[in-house]
Amino acid sequence: MRTALITGGAGGIGSAICIKFAESGYSVIITYNSDKNKAENLLKTLPEGNHAIFHAPNTDAGKLQELSNFIDEKYGKLDVLVNNAGITTPVKHDDLEGLSDEWIDKILQTNVRGTFAMIRAMKPFLEKSNEALIVNISSVSAKSGIGSNVIYCASKAAIDSITRSLARVLAPKIRVVSVSPGWVLGDYTQNIDPDYLQTQIDKTPLGRLANAEDVANTILALTTHLTFTTGSIIPVDGGRLLL
Ligand SMILES: NC(=O)c1ccc[n+]([C@@H]2O[C@H](COP(=O)([O-])OP(=O)(O)OC[C@H]3O[C@@H](n4cnc5c(N)ncnc54)[C@H](OP(=O)(O)O)[C@@H]3O)[C@@H](O)[C@H]2O)c1
Repeated sequence: MRTALITGGAGGIGSAICIKFAESGYSVIITYNSDKNKAENLLKTLPEGNHAIFHAPNTDAGKLQELSNFIDEKYGKLDVLVNNAGITTPVKHDDLEGLSDEWIDKILQTNVRGTFAMIRAMKPFLEKSNEALIVNISSVSAKSGIGSNVIYCASKAAIDSITRSLARVLAPKIRVVSVSPGWVLGDYTQNIDPDYLQTQIDKTPLGRLANAEDVANTILALTTHLTFTTGSIIPVDGGRLLL
């Protein structure tokens, strides 16, 4: 049985990834940070399988050790790791005082250090797979420098750099790819001014914003068809950066 671990898997994009992999026959491990109910509810909706939820903030080394022990005992190996957990807060880029050191540390610890720490912790289990894949959820903001705040964009650029470095050294056993959405429709976008969202749609060559399933489909395609791809940054943005 193939196994996929999705960090922060009960969130908007993470849920779609978990459902997609469960429907494709994977045993899915969903890690959560603060919201156990959300993870439990998602677990109940997954098609039957050897799925699990686990409390493992990617910033907590002790919890990652517990997660490793759990995977070792229950699954023995990991085929896919999706580093989906990520946080941000909206701060206008010209408001330098508005982005506090506390938020800078939180964003970098979760998005960058946490992504690396998960890979470090899961490497022994990925090495036991014959088709190991790590997907780091990045963002087109890594390239454009346009996003919820300056440090969020920088954190995603750091993730892309980690993808390239580790793809080189973990090959040929483990592939590492960044999947980079632009705007993704979900709870978050419900609070955004519809006129602003329409402007974003107008600037997107494919004429719509992504949904979580677009992201999930891209990740699944990396396991089914894009099997000679590693170290790449794959946008899921409808061509948004072309304009
Ligand atoms: N939405 C977009 O438009 C968009 C665009 C580009 C890229 N992305 C990226 O896509 C990923 C998912 O975004 P989303 O919109 O689905 O966000 P979301 O709904 O807020 O989900 C984020 C998830 O991350 C979890 N999380 C937060 N801190 C964590 C930690 N330290 N350890 C483990 N899990 C943690 C949360 O778990 P709890 O609820 O349990 O705290 C939550 O389930 C993020 O990396 C984000 O940067 C999103």
